[in-house]
Amino acid sequence: MKILVIGSGGREHALAWKLAQSSHVKKIFTAPGNPGTALLGQNVPLAVDDIAGLAAFAKKEKIDLTVVGPERPLVAGIVDAFQAQGLRIFGPTAAAAQLEGSKAFCKQLLRHHAIPTAEHRTFSRIDDARKYVITREEPLVVKASGEAQGKGVFVCDTQEDALAAIKTIMIDRAFGAAGDQVVIEERLAGEEASILALVDGRNIYPMESAQDHKAILDGDRGPNTGGMGAYSPAPAVTGNLMALIERDILVPTVHALNHERCPYNGLLYAGIMITPGGPKVLEYNVRFGDPETQPLVMRLKTDLVEVFEATIDGKLDELELEWDKRPAVGVVISAGGYPGEYEKGKPISGLAAVARLPDVQVFHAGTAQKGDQVVTSGGRVLCVTAIGDTIPEAKTRAYEAAELIRFEGMHYRTDISDKALRHIRA
Ligand code: AMP
Ligand code: GLY
Repeated sequence: MKILVIGSGGREHALAWKLAQSSHVKKIFTAPGNPGTALLGQNVPLAVDDIAGLAAFAKKEKIDLTVVGPERPLVAGIVDAFQAQGLRIFGPTAAAAQLEGSKAFCKQLLRHHAIPTAEHRTFSRIDDARKYVITREEPLVVKASGEAQGKGVFVCDTQEDALAAIKTIMIDRAFGAAGDQVVIEERLAGEEASILALVDGRNIYPMESAQDHKAILDGDRGPNTGGMGAYSPAPAVTGNLMALIERDILVPTVHALNHERCPYNGLLYAGIMITPGGPKVLEYNVRFGDPETQPLVMRLKTDLVEVFEATIDGKLDELELEWDKRPAVGVVISAGGYPGEYEKGKPISGLAAVARLPDVQVFHAGTAQKGDQVVTSGGRVLCVTAIGDTIPEAKTRAYEAAELIRFEGMHYRTDISDKALRHIRA
């Protein structure tokens, strides 16, 4: 088979790396890809939102299966466009992708179907949003309703913070049209978990649990990022809790989408807050998580092509996912300054030394090839991922590998996976 992976992050490198191990795969293309995916096949210089260009490429190359990494093309309707041309593609339609594309849509769906989530209100008018905030005493979260690449969310301590967030979103228009509406929510307390589930319209097959680390600094301090590291499994997600998440959240969500006539096919990622009152949905993403995918694929034993085929064909009931029991930990190395301004073009050393380590993979994200040299080209640069017999062992391996890598200004958190320990010791 010929496979096309769309995207250029660590998630896409990890998916392409796993797909490359499939006995069904003859050639992997990645658009636009990165120096990591270049080693697995061929990078194609097409942007992730060039839907017409990607479809034309898939036709010309007779691609058997396209896998979409980021949400933007999904929300823009890449699956609808490919299907209309008879091209096989993994992911939800634009209608179903609204679950991530519009927080207002997502929250309304959850509320109508009594699926546990933070209480919320949606506002299109700034004065109404302000008046609402002034009447509330509890801590709030203010979100741009549209897609803002994870940056349009403000977790507020005070009314002043919430009013400032409304100004940033609706007056300063920091996220453009994504700020036409704001969603204001009660602030939930608890530990977060990422539940990635395969959904074929009818059947739901959750993968192993994972946990992300969104803040830039140790101890969850500093501004939020796309994700600074992840591990799997997350011991906070016990068997009982997973059963509750399935029964009270995933199953009713998939039913609700069918009811709204936008059946879901693809990977459904539930961002969950484990509150004292039970698991609640923080958000849905309509794609694999980054960096959760990196540790997850290192643990996945099942052929990923077969996983995608079973999902597309509505045959998840015939699929058996097999996992390496050993945990995996992924540590993101970012550019100095990220998630704010950062410089690019810094030469990276140590990649060859890390490539020789067993049970360690370095997934590329914001990297570029400059002659013989790999240089930085983005905020999240690499995700060093390791597998070990225990979480502390996987962590040690990942950090030993990270220490071999060098570039000017590099930063990584030193506490990825530490949250797991309190559950293990408990
Ligand atoms: P979202 O993109 O909606 O998942 O929000 C990004 C991050 O903001 C989440 O991963 C949480 O850390 C935080 N967050 C979002 N909504 C809430 C909420 N209602 N209560 C507490 N934290 C939240
Ligand atoms: N790891 C968070 C995300 O993929 O949205």
